[in-house]
Amino acid sequence: MVSEHAAKVLVASNRGPVSYTPREDGSLDSKRGGGGLVSGLSAVEDKVWVCAALSDGDREAVRRGVSEPGVRMLDIDPSVHTDAYNGIANSVLWFVHHMLYQTPVEPVFDAEFRRRWASYEAYNRSFAEALAEEADPGSAVLVQDYHLTLVPGMLRDLRPDLRIGHFSHTPWAPVDYFRLLPDDIGEQVLHGILGADRAAFLTRRWADAFIGCCTEILGGTGGTRIGVHGLGADGDFLRRRSHEADVDARMATLREQVGAGRKTIVRVDRTELSKNIVRGLHAYRALLEERPEWRERVVHVAFAYPSRQDLAVYRDYTAEVRRVAEDINATYGTADWTPVLLHVDDDFARSLAAYRLADVALVNPIRDGMNLVAKEVPVVSDHGCALVLSREAGAYEELGEDAIVVNPYDVSATAAALHEALTLDDDERSARTGRLADAATALPPQRWFLDQLDALRA
Ligand code: G6P
Repeated sequence: MVSEHAAKVLVASNRGPVSYTPREDGSLDSKRGGGGLVSGLSAVEDKVWVCAALSDGDREAVRRGVSEPGVRMLDIDPSVHTDAYNGIANSVLWFVHHMLYQTPVEPVFDAEFRRRWASYEAYNRSFAEALAEEADPGSAVLVQDYHLTLVPGMLRDLRPDLRIGHFSHTPWAPVDYFRLLPDDIGEQVLHGILGADRAAFLTRRWADAFIGCCTEILGGTGGTRIGVHGLGADGDFLRRRSHEADVDARMATLREQVGAGRKTIVRVDRTELSKNIVRGLHAYRALLEERPEWRERVVHVAFAYPSRQDLAVYRDYTAEVRRVAEDINATYGTADWTPVLLHVDDDFARSLAAYRLADVALVNPIRDGMNLVAKEVPVVSDHGCALVLSREAGAYEELGEDAIVVNPYDVSATAAALHEALTLDDDERSARTGRLADAATALPPQRWFLDQLDALRA
């Protein structure tokens, strides 16, 4: 049944715009999230955002009827959510699209996988049912990402009147790699997304890969339209936010930690296998080894914020990042120089401070849907920053010309690129940073979102 508060624009994603944590006195503290979708949607009036409760605090909020206007949080059975989110989305689908499997031993599609897949279906069904209730006749529904690939098809069956879009924030696997998935599951994923009127991606490359999968496996994309919307950085917000007092304070601290006169190579990532943090550290080690003139003169500021720590493979990777950073510090560090400054606690103000300070930004993912760090640094940079960028990041399509481009697997080439970036002359670096900032802000989040909405309604 359609709810009496039904809306004209709906968004569905696993992670919503708000999260709750219980306070000691039993009340609930709410925290607003950031990101492209949050700012994108801020321009829209009559809307509902359907998302999952992700923590005990979130579940408590749903039970108590605590909510924000325009947000519907789904209290999905925790074990179903864990199977769907950790067991399928962040293990299987994330690994397929980022090509992270070590294929001689992984993946294993057995009875346990089938059990989790059934949870993934149930989890998708909960979203489809909630959306069917929340949508006004003829509304536009924008379903987000690999967590919810089955929703468009399910929702189409429940509500044929709706305009349904699906947006992938990740890369899309090329067909030969996508075929690692069991045949029926791969087909289900493709059919699920093709239930949408329009399926959109961050770059042409990922859109073409999706079309390739549909063509090879299903014989075509049916009537579904395919679009590309390259989310950009929010220039106005970033320029304002990066000059607030808390960022200035963190800059002072960082400057002190780095030491006067030293250059900085900055990276900021969620600690996640596709980000290639370990190879980045190996490249930095190679730089210090092969070009000893940089010892004591540069600091690698690496912010690696924990992510998806329920999964052992992410925890192990986090431990490896720490181990390699410590090893570099033990090998090359001196009494007053710490070669790697590794911070693992998430602090947006400190990330902005590092962006302002950076001489070089290292963005070397194995594969990445877009990578907004590559787009944010040039906007915020105080004195121009050279960008070392993986050709496998979506951002490469827009920023490739003014970045120093690397093959993310090639540690020696990445070390050479770091050296080149550190020695770029000031005028060249400033000119490139200006052009990078222009390209990076070409499609700010609100425009990005409204373009999708217009295209879906067209
Ligand atoms: C990627 C995905 C998003 C996800 C984010 C953070 O950017 O495309 O859908 O929200 O990672 O991951 P998490 O698992 O913490 O939501």
